[in-house]
Amino acid sequence: MSYSTKILVYTPSEPEEYAAMIRQAGYTAVDSASTPEEAEKKLNGTEVIISWKFPLHLLERPEAKTVKWIQSLGAGVDDLASSPSINEQVVISRIVDQFGPPMSEYVFAHLLYTYQDLARSRASQQEKQWQPFVTEILHGKTIGIAGIGSIGKEIVKKARAFDMTVYGLSYSGKDAQLVDRHFGPDQWLEFVRELDVLVLILPLTDQTRHVVNRDVLLAMKPSATLVNIGRGHLIAEDELIEVLRAGHLRAAILDVFQQEPLPADSPLWQLPNVYVTPHMSGPSTQERIGQYLLDNLARYGRGEALQGVVDRGAGY
Ligand code: GLV
Repeated sequence: MSYSTKILVYTPSEPEEYAAMIRQAGYTAVDSASTPEEAEKKLNGTEVIISWKFPLHLLERPEAKTVKWIQSLGAGVDDLASSPSINEQVVISRIVDQFGPPMSEYVFAHLLYTYQDLARSRASQQEKQWQPFVTEILHGKTIGIAGIGSIGKEIVKKARAFDMTVYGLSYSGKDAQLVDRHFGPDQWLEFVRELDVLVLILPLTDQTRHVVNRDVLLAMKPSATLVNIGRGHLIAEDELIEVLRAGHLRAAILDVFQQEPLPADSPLWQLPNVYVTPHMSGPSTQERIGQYLLDNLARYGRGEALQGVVDRGAGY
């Protein structure tokens, strides 16, 4: 790769921001697109695609033959890793080690909001009511983190600061020593049984799709809280709705859904113990991932190993 290698930046919103940053670093053939039609026109001769939600069918076109590397703008690459449209020789990389701080803060912001019942305090204030009540605390509770990669590890760190007992479940078994008890993929029921909080931050793969099903949800304590910041399809959503309607969980804090945007007729919008946010716990911003992208481009240019290379077999 040289500074004149053709780079196409694709994201549905504001691709020019990244493109301008890359041009500023000296790359001279950087184009951007935010719609499939635009991407189609600009694909010819592209070697590097930097993208979020790239229209993958375009990669089957003859114009895409020159593509050698796809750098995702996100951490989760379930769409790319499983796509038959991407030739085996094409290297896929993702963002690693950048989203732990915002995503772990999201988790604890929501946990504290519900445990401290901040909504109740605000409502009392608005009514000028002096009504003290005893809040619940995280101290001494057990949190289980499914997925202990770089984001999960940041959640472990913050859970420790709250003096929580920390369990973890992972498919690779890597970093098992970071948690008080570690569980493998065949141990979901044992893993969730004692938890007060279950956080999902696993990659979506064939092994993890709908892994949190009715059986797992019912094995959780009725007083437990479920947090999903991974991918919607980790949970069998219909079964979650059933379980919530039966009053089984204390709360579900959901940032990701099987269908996004969450359809207006989804019961999740209105179930009283469900907190819905629009896939925003770990946003990719130029500030957060810009330097990472430039570092990876420089590595690619020097023919060095890239950061965050995806193992397509594993799916992340
Ligand atoms: C967002 O969901 C990401 O994968 O980065």
